[in-house]
Amino acid sequence: MSRQFIQSRDDINTYGTDYVHFCMRLKKLTDIDLASYKAQQMHRRLLNYKNRQGLADFYALSVSIQKDPKKLAHLVDFLTINVSEFFRNEEHWKVLRASVLPPIVKARAGKPVEIWSAGSSAGQEAYSLAMTVLEAGGTPRVLGTDIDEPSLAKAREGSYSSSEIEGLDRLHLAKYFDKTPTGYKVREVLKRSVLFERRNLLSDPYPRDLDLAVCRNVLIYFTDKGKQQVLRGLADSLRPGGVLFTGATEAVFNPSAYGLKQIYPFFYERA
Ligand SMILES: C[S@@+](CC[C@H](N)C(=O)[O-])C[C@H]1O[C@@H](n2cnc3c(N)ncnc32)[C@H](O)[C@@H]1O
Repeated sequence: MSRQFIQSRDDINTYGTDYVHFCMRLKKLTDIDLASYKAQQMHRRLLNYKNRQGLADFYALSVSIQKDPKKLAHLVDFLTINVSEFFRNEEHWKVLRASVLPPIVKARAGKPVEIWSAGSSAGQEAYSLAMTVLEAGGTPRVLGTDIDEPSLAKAREGSYSSSEIEGLDRLHLAKYFDKTPTGYKVREVLKRSVLFERRNLLSDPYPRDLDLAVCRNVLIYFTDKGKQQVLRGLADSLRPGGVLFTGATEAVFNPSAYGLKQIYPFFYERA
């Protein structure tokens, strides 16, 4: 009997067949496999969503997303939690700037510093990375990936409201952003070093030979098994000496299991 079946049977006991069938339908339509996400949290969110849509059961929600691609996109956007900020948890960016990045920039000797923002949401993290590398004297090449199309579209556009740029100081704003009637827009100098693509961390291929893989505030949503799968992929995506940068609540407890060594809190180097 496959593990997948056992998981479904457990879920049927806990959440009912109606919900499990809905999860299977969602996976078919989007490649999003809710079995890799924390079940209780996802079920609560989806129950909330279904009730707000005035639908009687998950079967009705399945029918609605299958018929209407807009409804499907709306659901995916709701399901993925896209909260982000520029330089989120500033103290960790200080470590990146002062200690992690200088040896990487030096080792690249003028070649681009290859960076991945995995779970990039609306681009704040990817643009923060590009600014940090430019300031360290390097040439950034940042790939931002996410599963959520509206977030990717916003990241590519690079327009942020005044409240969304709160983490940015005046110097960064003056150097890398233009004022718009509704907020600020990222300048070409930054945009040209950042590329955004849709990729599912649980099923799509990972980039290779990276200097820095940044995956922050994404792993918290996954089951232990999902987390391990992603951490393995992130570690393998680094070149030797490359560094993984995780979120403030996402310390890796057994870095050696992935061929990593902690060099600072939330920073892990590939051996
Ligand atoms: C809370 S945001 C984190 C954004 C940013 N990394 C930060 O720390 O500010 C989590 C992001 O992970 C994305 N995400 C969730 N599951 C994913 C998956 N399987 N593959 C790729 N991205 C995923 C969501 O769409 C969302 O944009």
